[in-house]
Amino acid sequence: MTTPPRLTDLHPDPDDITGDVLRGLSSTPRRLPSKYFYDRRGSELFEAITRQPEYYLTRIELALLAGRGPGIAAAVGPRVHVVEYGSGSGRKTRLLLEALDDPVAWTPIEISRSALVASATRLQREFGDIEVLPVLADFTRPVPLPRPSRAAASALVFFPGSTLGNFGHLESSRLLAAMRDTMGPGGAALVGIDLVKDPSIIEAAYNDAAGVTADFTLNLLRRLNRDVGSDFDLDGFAHRARYVEPESRVVTTLVSLRDQLVTVAGRGFRFAAGEELHVEQSRKYTDAAFGALAAEAGLRIAHAWNDPRDWFGLRLLRRA
Ligand code: AVJ
Repeated sequence: MTTPPRLTDLHPDPDDITGDVLRGLSSTPRRLPSKYFYDRRGSELFEAITRQPEYYLTRIELALLAGRGPGIAAAVGPRVHVVEYGSGSGRKTRLLLEALDDPVAWTPIEISRSALVASATRLQREFGDIEVLPVLADFTRPVPLPRPSRAAASALVFFPGSTLGNFGHLESSRLLAAMRDTMGPGGAALVGIDLVKDPSIIEAAYNDAAGVTADFTLNLLRRLNRDVGSDFDLDGFAHRARYVEPESRVVTTLVSLRDQLVTVAGRGFRFAAGEELHVEQSRKYTDAAFGALAAEAGLRIAHAWNDPRDWFGLRLLRRA
């Protein structure tokens, strides 16, 4: 009953965190990969962000999964193998699995073995009649799926949270192409996307009054100090998030508050006062822009669900 689920290990390349940081700090403008936000404390801070009144994204997506369940289930069809990219808190997974018509199996795909085992074990305990088949792999590449013991009618890739928006244009189009491959013929993907709206609403979501997002952003430096031995001064940088209109994205940076020298793996990096270190982008989509992105990857929008204010949406993608 409590045996850990059978794990398929596709031996993904481990993150080269020091190499990524040195590369990012050597580029112009300087940047750090946003995937490194999510150490233990970073994941806790992100959960806290989702509870802030300004951060509407998670609240709306959960409401869509809870309230539009019957429509989603009808559009997806019965007996699917749900394939989730990343392993989040499990709240969204639970709502999706409860809504769907007789789902056969659930496969989380993760590069972190500990996160994968934890989420797979938890979900298996909660859903006795859904086969849990975790895969240790890099979901930005096509992933051959494990075969459930009970045949599935098709695969459904689930990528909630508007996490797609953290990737640049080329990367997000490649990621959608990998999804197209992984879903197989007759498969689909259910993707959460944040929508273009009044910029003041968007900017408030990334600058909450309680300062949780600022803590989350600065925690990246704390994490790097611990894991790559850098010496970032957390009081020497400040969180800044602004909506850049022509590109429809929130750009988050850490602004250097003075001239300073940061040492990483024996190499010195000088920051000028006011210089910005880019740490995250969060793309916001119009229907036209998302449709065009999907089309680039050989996908089409088969169904769409938005909240009444059109702030956030779920899209069901199928092969074009
Ligand atoms: C979970 C990555 C989609 O970009 O909105 C929240 C992360 N960053 N506040 C987002 C985040 C700052 C979030 N994603």
